[in-house]
Amino acid sequence: MEIIVKDTVDEASAIVAEILLRQVEEKPDSALGLPTGATPLGVYARLIEDFRNGRGSYNCAHAFNLDEYLGIPGTDTASYAFYMRENLFRHIDFMQRNIHMPDGSAADASAEATRYETQIAARGGIDLMFLGLGRNAHIGFNEPGSPHDIRTRRVALSASTMEANARYFEPGSRQPTHAITMGIGTILESRRIVVLATGIEKASAVAASLAGPITDAVPGSALARHAHTTIVLDRDAAHELD
Ligand code: F6R
Repeated sequence: MEIIVKDTVDEASAIVAEILLRQVEEKPDSALGLPTGATPLGVYARLIEDFRNGRGSYNCAHAFNLDEYLGIPGTDTASYAFYMRENLFRHIDFMQRNIHMPDGSAADASAEATRYETQIAARGGIDLMFLGLGRNAHIGFNEPGSPHDIRTRRVALSASTMEANARYFEPGSRQPTHAITMGIGTILESRRIVVLATGIEKASAVAASLAGPITDAVPGSALARHAHTTIVLDRDAAHELD
């Protein structure tokens, strides 16, 4: 596992953006696994800026989102489909038909999870999986206790994840309690994984994931099972590593 520590969030984001850019330059029809949340925003802003400056093309690439809330449609401003459209897809040249994500409004969530897993397999798996890390060390919405070989499925969100994500919902609006997430087993089948974690609130999750035992209690510790993982941190997130 390669660990890169940069002084600032900006510098850390630039490293991850460069890894994504090189991936599509080297393999234009790459399947990219993409996260939402606060962490990737600086990376997506850089990819958009580079694209506007003539660097990077995604018109042969496929995007597979890591997860989606259940019970809200993709038009809802809190959905991950909306987030991805606003923060990345509408600014660069992904083909609409190559953008894949779990359907959060599917009537049968388990069938939808299976469909998504099949779609990933049909593309030959994920070439580069970009991940954030939860404060409780979750990856995707695989909460502590998730087996490291678990597949894409419907999950209940933990109280700490609901609390961390409450900021994305209008006061009074209903916050989803469940999601569809790629499983840890699915994530680990990616050819390469890059994780970005920034900020002091991620420091203990980073230390537990990278310096502790490999255990289902710490989803991030599963990353040590993968042969080609790069972890990019800012100084704050690296604070509890030796
Ligand atoms: C998002 C996702 C989550 C986030 C994690 C960190 O698609 O799967 O695992 O990466 O919750 O979220 P932020 O970046 O908001 O701190």
